[in-house]
Amino acid sequence: MSVLQKSAIAGIGFHVPERIITNSDLTQWMETSDEWITDRSGIKERRWIDHDGGASSLAIQAAKNAMEDAHVLPEEIDMVICATITSDYFFPGISAQVQEALGLNHVGAFDIKAACPAFVYALSVGDQYIKTGHSKTVLVIGAEVQSTALDISTRGRDTAVLFGDGAGAAILKPSDNESAILSTHLHTEGKYLKSLWCEGPASKFNPRISKEMLEEGRQYPYMNGREVFKNAVKRFPQVIQEAMDANELTMDDVAQIIPHQANLRISQAVAKRMKIGMDKVYSNIHKYGNTTAASIPIALTEARNEGKFQRGDYIILAAFGAGFRWASAAIRW
Ligand code: ACO
Repeated sequence: MSVLQKSAIAGIGFHVPERIITNSDLTQWMETSDEWITDRSGIKERRWIDHDGGASSLAIQAAKNAMEDAHVLPEEIDMVICATITSDYFFPGISAQVQEALGLNHVGAFDIKAACPAFVYALSVGDQYIKTGHSKTVLVIGAEVQSTALDISTRGRDTAVLFGDGAGAAILKPSDNESAILSTHLHTEGKYLKSLWCEGPASKFNPRISKEMLEEGRQYPYMNGREVFKNAVKRFPQVIQEAMDANELTMDDVAQIIPHQANLRISQAVAKRMKIGMDKVYSNIHKYGNTTAASIPIALTEARNEGKFQRGDYIILAAFGAGFRWASAAIRW
């Protein structure tokens, strides 16, 4: 029986737009307050794109930063996986733009649409390519521009205040030492599809979006906040525990949990349920809001840069989001 090749993260990086939108800035477009947003979400500001570059422009810069961190040249990359629900165009996905802009060889490049947990899904797929020997250097990106999808008015305030734009990336390579992606766990429960979704434009309709749909605001994301909260605080601990059990780890062995930055209140509730302090649950949501598939690689990079974990430490990435989907990755850094 052949032994599968382990993969490890060889480099990481992120990129966010320069334009900062504070909670106070939002009050010019909707009835809200810094106090309401801070109390419910922990968010103080987010970045919103100020040009028409779309998610690909953020993805490309994040990828360059991760490649520099990993000391990887464009010609070494042999697979590109982009996690996004906000691609520049309806098709063919931002991975094609990334391939072209970075001057990569004519390698495989595709997008994964799995909402907030999509970066962990993409990491899991990249890990399999390396494990099987199919690929040697995989570029995995999470990138989103949510700001152009939001209803920036009082009607959309429960959702609009939460989301930000950004991108993060990781380079996966075969590992010949203790550093490795140890396991990934992916889950979906489609019965909650409409608790966090965006209805149009969609292939279900012809034309894909109508004047009536636009007037009714059905092009904007819809969230049942209470349903999201209830399920998130159940699924995060489950999938973190699953990652620990699969690797015979206890919470004492784990240096840092890097959760999807959904909402500070969700992270705090997860920490409480797992009986751990917030010092073990990384958070940077106050600066960037919820950046969907980009939040984990952005948080991972900042946590690493702040020294929250060191080479050889165990960390766990965990996410919950639309689908509903939830996922985790146990990593030896
Ligand atoms: N500013 C001011 N008021 C607001 C805003 C806002 N931005 N948004 C909603 N409100 C109002 C509502 O209109 C409502 O007013 P009403 O009582 O007069 O009708 C009131 O605030 C509701 O506030 P709460 O009592 O706090 O409502 P609830 O307890 O349902 O909490 C919340 C709502 C904060 C959304 C909660 O359900 C929550 O935190 N859910 C988690 C959702 C989340 O964080 N998702 C992350 C994105 S998805 C993901 O990444 C997994």
